[in-house]
Amino acid sequence: MNLPTRSLGTTGPQVSALGLGCMGMSALYGESDRAESVATIHAALDAGVALLDTGDFYAMGHNEMLIGEALRAAPAAAREKALTSVKFGALRDPDGGWSGYDGRPGAVKNFAAYSLQRLGVDHIDVYRIARIDPDVPIEETVGAIAELVEKGHVRHIGLSEVGAETIRRAAATAPISDLQIEYSLISRGIEEEILPTTRELGISITAYGVLSRGLISGHFTRDRQLAAGDFRSFSPRFQGENLQHNLDLVEQLRKIAEQKGVSVAQIAIAWVLSRGDDIVPLIGARTRTRLTEALGALDVTLDDADLAAIEEAVPADAAAGDRYPAAQMAHLDSER
Ligand SMILES: NC(=O)c1ccc[n+]([C@@H]2O[C@H](COP(=O)([O-])OP(=O)(O)OC[C@H]3O[C@@H](n4cnc5c(N)ncnc54)[C@H](OP(=O)(O)O)[C@@H]3O)[C@@H](O)[C@H]2O)c1
Repeated sequence: MNLPTRSLGTTGPQVSALGLGCMGMSALYGESDRAESVATIHAALDAGVALLDTGDFYAMGHNEMLIGEALRAAPAAAREKALTSVKFGALRDPDGGWSGYDGRPGAVKNFAAYSLQRLGVDHIDVYRIARIDPDVPIEETVGAIAELVEKGHVRHIGLSEVGAETIRRAAATAPISDLQIEYSLISRGIEEEILPTTRELGISITAYGVLSRGLISGHFTRDRQLAAGDFRSFSPRFQGENLQHNLDLVEQLRKIAEQKGVSVAQIAIAWVLSRGDDIVPLIGARTRTRLTEALGALDVTLDDADLAAIEEAVPADAAAGDRYPAAQMAHLDSER
């Protein structure tokens, strides 16, 4: 199938207007079903979704191996069209703990060597450090990826969760295709400084958390039982009064969705799509049903009256609770 496409920056590839974020198939959102995950990746490729996003640290290589398995089993034509976007740098331990970030040039090349092997590909399309390493200047980390580009192991350089100053320093070092960062109706922090900076520099946004990790999908309920280790069990937005406040916002959004005959998730995704052609939402669908719903957002047109109604229902700073717990917020260069 042919989906609408968008360019990843002035230097990056053309990609489908929606990408598939594969994280939840391996980590952070509780149990997942391997066969359904592979089927979802195949359905996405079949529908024309060409961008698959992962991180080498999502269940310590599990997510890359899952994508590798799905790519091997996909028809050759779909496999050739698939683009991989990989994050690296997060350090894990055998108990699943997190112990900082490593952006040293030698580490970058080591991470890449393992990712290529796990994915079973001869190059990574977009490669980025997940969070900057505070001990390593961004120029050194990006410079190391640029060397991988020269050797053909990587095609394009991306960034993740960094602020305007770091974006400028990175872009002065090598061409940057896109910044991956959280952006949704209830996470609009990039609008003030980061988005104008990426636009000035010809860098696109690959937006994650477009459904705020399911919170504004219309499917999340207050009584949902979350497994231990599920991000949502410790995310400030999913706790107590914050959760109730945020779910009340979703009900406002639901009224608009019902009037338009679409789902809440489709409104939330269509809103991000409406913010500009330089924005590519990464959808965290873990099942074919959720994927189909997400793809339906591409057929939703929001006119000025719809956008005004959405803005009134969910004003820019309407969310209760930070988007990460305090310890994780401290790693976000984008929040400084
Ligand atoms: N750079 C970074 O720092 C960073 C951070 C986080 C994620 N990411 C990337 O961005 C991708 C997307 O992030 P995310 O998974 O948090 O985003 P999301 O799309 O906001 O949330 C995905 C969750 O929403 C729920 N959902 C309900 N309806 C859905 C629908 N129609 N389509 C998709 N999901 C629906 C699903 O939960 P249920 O399955 O439980 O229903 C799913 O697990 C990740 O997979 C990862 O690749 C990057």
